[in-house]
Formats: sequence, C-alpha cells, structure tokens
Amino acid sequence: MPFEHVKLEKSGKLCWLTMHNPKALNALNSQVLADLDAALDQVVADVEANETHILAIRGAGDKAFVAGADISELAQLKGLEGRDFARNGQALFDRIENMPIPVIAAVGGYALGGGCELALACHLRVASDLAVFGLPEVTLGVIPGYGGTQRLARQLGMGRALDMILTGRMVKADEALLLGLINRIAPAAELEEAVEKLASSIMQVGPLAARAGLEAVRGGLQSSQAEGLRLEAQLFGLLCGTEDMVEGTAAFLGKRKADFKGC
Ligand code: CAA
Repeated sequence: MPFEHVKLEKSGKLCWLTMHNPKALNALNSQVLADLDAALDQVVADVEANETHILAIRGAGDKAFVAGADISELAQLKGLEGRDFARNGQALFDRIENMPIPVIAAVGGYALGGGCELALACHLRVASDLAVFGLPEVTLGVIPGYGGTQRLARQLGMGRALDMILTGRMVKADEALLLGLINRIAPAAELEEAVEKLASSIMQVGPLAARAGLEAVRGGLQSSQAEGLRLEAQLFGLLCGTEDMVEGTAAFLGKRKADFKGC
C-alpha cells in the first residue's frame, strides 16, 4: 500500500523505510506520523509472513534523516494538546523500539529533535560522516517530547545526555561515535552499503537467535536485572528447543557453516 510520506522497499529480507517530506527536511507532521504508523503495520505483516527480518529507516534526500517535529504544528499547541502531541509520538516510537525484528537507523544528514528521537528508538544507528545529531527543543522553549529525555539518558548516561539536552547543541557524526550515540560511521556515499553489511551480518546468525537477543536486551533494560536474567534464561531455554540450535552446534562441531532455517 503506498503512503504519501513513507516509502517501503524490500531488498531480500531487509526492508528499507524512507521518511519522505522533502519540503521540510523530512520533518514529522501529523500526516507523516500517521503514514509511519500505517507503514509499520505493513512491516509487521511482512515480519509475520517471514518476508522481513530487518528494518532500516532512512530519510529521503542527502541533507536530512529527519529534522524533527514540524515546528509550524508545534507552534499551535496549547497546554494539554502538547501532552497529547508528545504521547502520540512516544507511542509511535515505542512501536519501533518494540518491533520484533532489529531496526537500524541509517542517518545521512540532520537527525534533530524528533529525528534524533526516531533514531534513538531504533535498536542500532549507522551514520554517514556528514550526519548531525541534536535535541534542540530547549531553543524552542520546550524539551524533547518523543522519548529523547529517556532514551538519550539511557544510551549515553545522565551527564552526556544533559550536555546535549540542556544546551540543544549539535553533535557531528565523529563525536556521536565517541559518545556512543551511534554504532558505526561510514562515508556519505557508502551509508546504505554499511547498513546492508550490518543487516547481512545479523541475518547470518538466524532470525530466532537475533530476535531473542533483541528481546532479552530490551526486556532487561525495561525491568530489573533479576527480571532480565529470568527472561534471558527463558529465551535461552526456548532456543535450545529449536532446529537452529541443533544446526548451529552441529555446524560448529562438523567444521562447516551453519544453514539456519529459522525454526
Ligand atoms: N519543522 C518544520 N520545517 C522545517 C523543520 C522543522 N523541524 N526543519 C526544517 N524545516 C524547513 C525549513 O523551514 C525550510 O523551509 P522553507 O524552505 O519553506 O523555508 C526547509 O525545511 C529547509 O530548512 P532550512 O532552510 O532551515 O535549511 P538549513 O540548511 O538552513 O538548516 C537545519 C537546516 C539546521 C536542520 C534547520 O532547518 C533547523 O534548525 N531545523 C529545525 C530543527 C529543530 O529545531 N528540530 C526540533 C523540532 S521540535 C521537536 O522535534 C519536538 C520533539 O521532541 C518531538
């Protein structure tokens, strides 16, 4: 199903989702968010049909990933409307964080405000050497409202997150890598190739183990360590009942490459 502001393209088991609002550097207005929500429904259906194993999110054009919430919409908000605006974006980005498959942000330019928050909701971030990150909301008289205060602090630690959130300063890709905000950096012309390489190395391990690893880390971070350890043991036990586990261990012992079937 085509969406005005979001494009889905498949490359084998990797699905590319492109944010497309070029007049405003892919800024997130209410229609863009609605299209993203509907596109995620499609991705989930493809995951359930075993057609998609990894999702990668990028921005249209070479200037921006996403330049944030649409400031002309933001400017109209009053009081409780602002709370609902934030809750709506948070729920959508929670959907991304809770996707059953790994989600990679491919950041090729500005990832500011809601755009940085969208990248943070993804599980992994690969950026071009021209990417710029920031949470400039304080310069607009507000704070990040699509999860940035929570996810950036969990990703970087309190001090480094507050250094960005309280100043609104922009962080270039090389600093983002040092901070731990991104996983990998690539020359601008090779960004998609770098994402495909990362996706392919995840896909080689087999979808069941990849999904369980994601679920264990995410579930643990959302609960206590004791609960996380219980979840880890439960998932480990489930994997020990799979054909992929029989195949992976037999392949190692037989000195050959494993051929995972995802069952
Ligand atoms: N909302 C609406 N329009 C935006 C936009 C945004 N977030 N970001 C860029 N645009 C528009 C510009 O208004 C401009 O439109 P016109 O051509 O019609 O004038 C067009 O996109 C191109 O942008 P610029 O001319 O500004 O491009 P530039 O290269 O000079 O600057 C930029 C690029 C530094 C990214 C600058 O556009 C910018 O600072 N954008 C706003 C970034 C921002 O503050 N984001 C946070 C938004 S609030 C938020 O996200 C809240 C939340 O937590 C959810």
